[in-house]
Amino acid sequence: MNNYINPYPSVMAVAKRPDITFVKGKGSWIWDSTGKSYLDVVQGWAVNCLGHSSDILVETISRQAGKLIHAGPGFFNAPMVQLSDALTSHSCFDQVFFTNSGAEANEGAIKLARKWGSIHKQGAYEIISLEHGFHGRTLATMSASGKAEWENLYAPKPSGFIKVPRNDIEAIKSTINKNTVAIMLEPVQGESGVHPASPAYLQALRALADEHKLLLIFDEVQTGMGRTGTLFAYEQYGVQPDIMTLGKGLGGGMPLGAMAIKQEIACFEPGDQGGTFNGNALVTAVGQAVLHAIVAPGFLEHVGTMGALLSDGLTKLSAKHGLGEVRASGLLLAMDTGEISAVDVVEKMFEMGALINAPRAYTLRFMPALNIQQDEIEQILSLLEQAFACMVDNPTGKGDNV
Ligand SMILES: Cc1ncc(COP(=O)(O)O)c(C=O)c1O
Repeated sequence: MNNYINPYPSVMAVAKRPDITFVKGKGSWIWDSTGKSYLDVVQGWAVNCLGHSSDILVETISRQAGKLIHAGPGFFNAPMVQLSDALTSHSCFDQVFFTNSGAEANEGAIKLARKWGSIHKQGAYEIISLEHGFHGRTLATMSASGKAEWENLYAPKPSGFIKVPRNDIEAIKSTINKNTVAIMLEPVQGESGVHPASPAYLQALRALADEHKLLLIFDEVQTGMGRTGTLFAYEQYGVQPDIMTLGKGLGGGMPLGAMAIKQEIACFEPGDQGGTFNGNALVTAVGQAVLHAIVAPGFLEHVGTMGALLSDGLTKLSAKHGLGEVRASGLLLAMDTGEISAVDVVEKMFEMGALINAPRAYTLRFMPALNIQQDEIEQILSLLEQAFACMVDNPTGKGDNV
């Protein structure tokens, strides 16, 4: 990737970007300005759940853009109301607040929990979250995240977030105190390298939250909207959180997030929360089209089938080349690469015309479009086979592509 030279000095260098510029995408494929195509298994960071420029989205965007783009947060608009209705009717939640990103949805959840604590729990405000968790890049969501590298970045960050190891119920029990108001976690940790919570753990968390009158917040920004094979990951655990946050796939590529809550914990009053673009008509119309596509008959079954195919292929590849664990939840998958630098694998795949992600130095992550086809999964596996065949005798370097 040309040592990440930035060819555009006017673009702030906040990420290590390869020296190419994307100009076009369709389905599982994306093209750069030289005409080179790439099989895209990153899809805008698990965002383009219907692939690049799906016909449904293109049609919805042009239809809605010709009708109403933005009425402002002080008014209802038709797509905002329709998407709220659709999300509540397809989930266990009663109310929705729309945002422009996953971080903003989580920021809203943190605010709501603190307000609820001030009313119902004598001012309790502390939130227990998990080591290696990821909740976004606003100051509060960075505090809620469990990334060790962020510990001192932008200090002082908001306080009141206590971190515990994942899947360790005793650690949570011993952390709860009179100031605790909520437990916040991803049902499957995405950025840490696809680490699912165990069903027993989430069920125990629900029981603990009920016992101590705490809010249970599931960050489904990455796992929601069909990514793990059900519309929302919580459905697979037999556990209902009090708050669920969404982002990424909800807008299918448009900036849309949401916080969904149960009626009984609603406590925002007008003026407590908001934002200029929240509930924008254009993006919520797109959210509706995405939701409609995901709940259509056969769509989620397809996610399960393609996820199993990719998982089986990765497991065989790992066994053949002596790599590491494969973890999968629908079409959110990771593979540990053993001695081989995952960053080097990403670069090799990039040269060969495929985009994959290395969230950790020795872990690859796969987050393709949910409508990816079998031949495309086979192509990814074949390219990976070629990449590992080149690299297995020549493992190099270390790195971190986060
Ligand atoms: C679980 C989770 N929560 C929150 C976020 C932040 O979302 P956004 O980047 O849209 O602010 C992410 C992004 O990767 C995520 O994976």
